[in-house]
Amino acid sequence: MLKVGLVGFGRMGRLYAAEFEKHPLWELSYICDTRDSAIEMAQSMYPNTQIVRDEDKIFDDPDVKVVALCALADSRPAQIYKALATGKHIMAEKPVAEHIDTEWQLLSDIESSNLMVAVNIFNRNAWYHHDIVNFIRSGEIGELAIVRVAHQTPGHLPQEGHNPEGPAFHDCGMHYVDVARWYANSEYDTYHAQGIRMWSYPDPWWIQVHGTFKNGVVFEITQGFVYGHMAKDQTHNCYVDVIGTKGIARMNHDFKNATVELHGVTRTERKTLDFGDKKTDVMVDVLGKSILAGKNLGFPVVRDSVIASDMAWKMFQDAVKNGAPCIGTPAELEEIYDRRKNMTEGYGLPVNL
Ligand SMILES: NC(=O)c1ccc[n+]([C@@H]2O[C@H](COP(=O)([O-])OP(=O)(O)OC[C@H]3O[C@@H](n4cnc5c(N)ncnc54)[C@H](O)[C@@H]3O)[C@@H](O)[C@H]2O)c1
Repeated sequence: MLKVGLVGFGRMGRLYAAEFEKHPLWELSYICDTRDSAIEMAQSMYPNTQIVRDEDKIFDDPDVKVVALCALADSRPAQIYKALATGKHIMAEKPVAEHIDTEWQLLSDIESSNLMVAVNIFNRNAWYHHDIVNFIRSGEIGELAIVRVAHQTPGHLPQEGHNPEGPAFHDCGMHYVDVARWYANSEYDTYHAQGIRMWSYPDPWWIQVHGTFKNGVVFEITQGFVYGHMAKDQTHNCYVDVIGTKGIARMNHDFKNATVELHGVTRTERKTLDFGDKKTDVMVDVLGKSILAGKNLGFPVVRDSVIASDMAWKMFQDAVKNGAPCIGTPAELEEIYDRRKNMTEGYGLPVNL
């Protein structure tokens, strides 16, 4: 069994802990957090796991082969360097650091180590994106021309946590910057971003970017956590829509199920299956099998995460440079905070314990 030490028992850490605990390849040896309530919860949920405040207890234990780094981006670089120094494989949350220069340095140091380092750019573990990418690459839609991606929910608000991860277009949008690049199979070339400073918050919290890839594919990405926070019944609008010279492929989901619709030159397919949340089950399975096999059997890699993070920062900065109008008032934002404090189910709610 692979002994794993997990750092950061918040929303993502809890999802990962549950998957490590039930997977036959893994033993959840340690959980580390710095907050009393998280420590108490971990103790009650995982009585056979060592619950620690000091992350060095994990790095100093030679039996721990893997660390899962699920705290925030400001503490991740030091933890990654400790893992590299003590020869531990890594499952890191994204982004791998708070500042992009540190991310590029980490990438270089990780790629020159012989350790396996996976990053949770979770779309790369999603069955529906694999279906569409395979369909595109099989030639069914002719030549790929246009990639459209949207992710709009009444989600994470400014100052609700994730401050080192940056504004919504970086914190969350980097996932969709990554998806468009994966589909296009090319590097970003030109882009123009427009944002809006919803509720007159200083940072744009909704951004749309369009532009080109080096191979001529054009893209459009829309990301915003401004989608009807005060609606009586909340909803969202999340999809990909891919257009080729001959056919199309698209996907939408409702966070429970995902539906893929493929309209190619020789086949038409419609499939609805479990959405699979953050795909932590896939990550835990693939990373475990990869470590045992001594090669990457398909987990998402640091390079793709760093490129997505870099481009998301650049696109965010472009939106700021292009002028983002203020709409709404801070009082409306306060109303939304108040509502979210009392919500038990909702989009991207911060964990309270
Ligand atoms: N891949 C995804 O789809 C996805 C989704 C959500 C969040 N994330 C990322 O996962 C990370 C965690 O996000 P979250 O939503 O779980 O946040 P969270 O605030 O719910 O949890 C973070 C936890 O880390 C703990 N922590 C902070 N600093 C620590 C340190 N130095 N040592 C030990 N524990 C520490 C906090 O006490 C907290 O319990 C973030 O980097 C975020 O960007 C990724």
